[in-house]
Amino acid sequence: MNLDAIQEKALAGIAGASDEATLQSLRVRYLGRRSELTAALRGLGKLPKEERSRAGAAANRVKQAIEAAFAARSDALHRSREESIAESEWLDLSLPAPVSRRGHLHPITQVEEQLDRLFRGMGYRVVEGPWVEDEWHNFDALNIPEWHPARDSWDTFWLSDGNLLRTHTSPVQIRAMRRFGAPLRVICPGRCFRNEAVDATHEACFNQLEGLVIDREITPGHLFHSIRAILAAILEEEVETRFRPSYYPFTEPSFDVDILRDGSWMELCGLGMVHPRVLEAGGLSSEEWTGFAFGLGIDRLAMMRFGIDDIRWFHGGDLRFLEQF
Ligand code: PHE
Repeated sequence: MNLDAIQEKALAGIAGASDEATLQSLRVRYLGRRSELTAALRGLGKLPKEERSRAGAAANRVKQAIEAAFAARSDALHRSREESIAESEWLDLSLPAPVSRRGHLHPITQVEEQLDRLFRGMGYRVVEGPWVEDEWHNFDALNIPEWHPARDSWDTFWLSDGNLLRTHTSPVQIRAMRRFGAPLRVICPGRCFRNEAVDATHEACFNQLEGLVIDREITPGHLFHSIRAILAAILEEEVETRFRPSYYPFTEPSFDVDILRDGSWMELCGLGMVHPRVLEAGGLSSEEWTGFAFGLGIDRLAMMRFGIDDIRWFHGGDLRFLEQF
């Protein structure tokens, strides 16, 4: 085959190659060791001297033309690949980034944080106690011995090691007195548990906020004034409240505060003067120290605040509910 024909065939093949792999196999075919061109170059040695240099120069021109065509085609393929990537993966860096959706705090957390701020402003310190509590802190130290019928109103979940899920935040009263001594002004917010018949206002898991004030000569007057001031600050709107005598083994006398909701009274807060036995269990002399305590239902407060009609909504994790607050 003559050189011109080789060149013509090679250039046509190269022009038609649509990817690198095809180009590579054409390279072997037209420039490889067994190609016609290589054979022609090899045959140069057999030519008579006068013809050799002319034929050699011609063969080299063909070789260079084919190599140049390969390089140009390879370049073009590469460029068009980049262009198609640029087209499909195009990104406008000047566009404003999509705003990531921010969550927000659970309504109970919102109320709890508001209470924290309020009480800290009144000089209370915020302390927490364990959810898994021992029997002594949850009951005995609060003047509820094992045989006492009051234990029935704090039925809870017992663990196999004899501990229990605390039924109220009152055991933190004992922990705080023993840890900080007197005088003392603390609140203890947190989760509580009861083996409860669940309904719209009762859950097996709920949140309380305990308050404890210990000082010399604390009287029921301090208790009532403080509770009124606290409720006024918490219940932003005018809400009707009712104080009534109650019974707790760890306070004497004891009271309950109810709030009026949709025409019926809902218990919001238990309170009273700290029982001398509780002071002693907290390591304080009941001769020297006096105090008052209260236990506020955070979930019920949140229900009141946000107009939620069923406490069970708080635990469902239902976004349609949570996103409203
Ligand atoms: N611990 C009581 C309850 O859970 C509430 C309470 C706290 C009452 C402090 C009096 C004083 O029902």
